[in-house]
Amino acid sequence: MKVLIVYGTKYGCTKKCAEILKSYLTGEVTVISAKAAPASLKSYDVVFIGGSVYMGKMRKEVIRFCSKNKIELMNKRLGIFVCCYTPNGTEGFIETLFSQEILSHASYVTCVGGEMNYEKMNVIYRKMFQALNKIDDFKKGFIEPQIHIEELQILAEKVMK
Ligand SMILES: Cc1cc2nc3c(=O)[nH]c(=O)nc-3n(C[C@H](O)[C@H](O)[C@H](O)COP(=O)(O)O)c2cc1C
Repeated sequence: MKVLIVYGTKYGCTKKCAEILKSYLTGEVTVISAKAAPASLKSYDVVFIGGSVYMGKMRKEVIRFCSKNKIELMNKRLGIFVCCYTPNGTEGFIETLFSQEILSHASYVTCVGGEMNYEKMNVIYRKMFQALNKIDDFKKGFIEPQIHIEELQILAEKVMK
């Protein structure tokens, strides 16, 4: 069984999740950035796609990978994970990130939490979150994210079963 995990990350959290996911998989597993993904998916039986969310949008390289490989992906066993601060199960959230076609084909789609790497962020982002944290409405709805390792394990099990 050949498995490909394709990720899109800005500060490394999604790559970390891809490696955690790999630890729950057997067979020949390749973890690769969407920016360096292979030209063809022909030799893979299973594909996992993971990406992080910025300003309500999935990372561009992940979207590009999905549209470029749309036809091949429809013939693979597929799992999708999202790194973000939006809690898993938030109604309608995942639907804004990927096409309906790809979401319906996937065996399992989930938000696995994330990490706010404040020290790696540029000054503008850091200042933006400092400012947002002073707004009561934002503070009320914002929970500092962490990686939900158990969700990655469930993803591995659901797609591989
Ligand atoms: C500037 C900025 C904007 C973000 N926008 C969103 C957002 O709109 N929705 C969300 O759920 N998470 C958002 N996040 C949280 C990231 O998706 C989260 O930190 C994720 O773990 C980053 O993963 P990465 O290091 O792989 O890029 C944002 C984070 C930053 C720094």
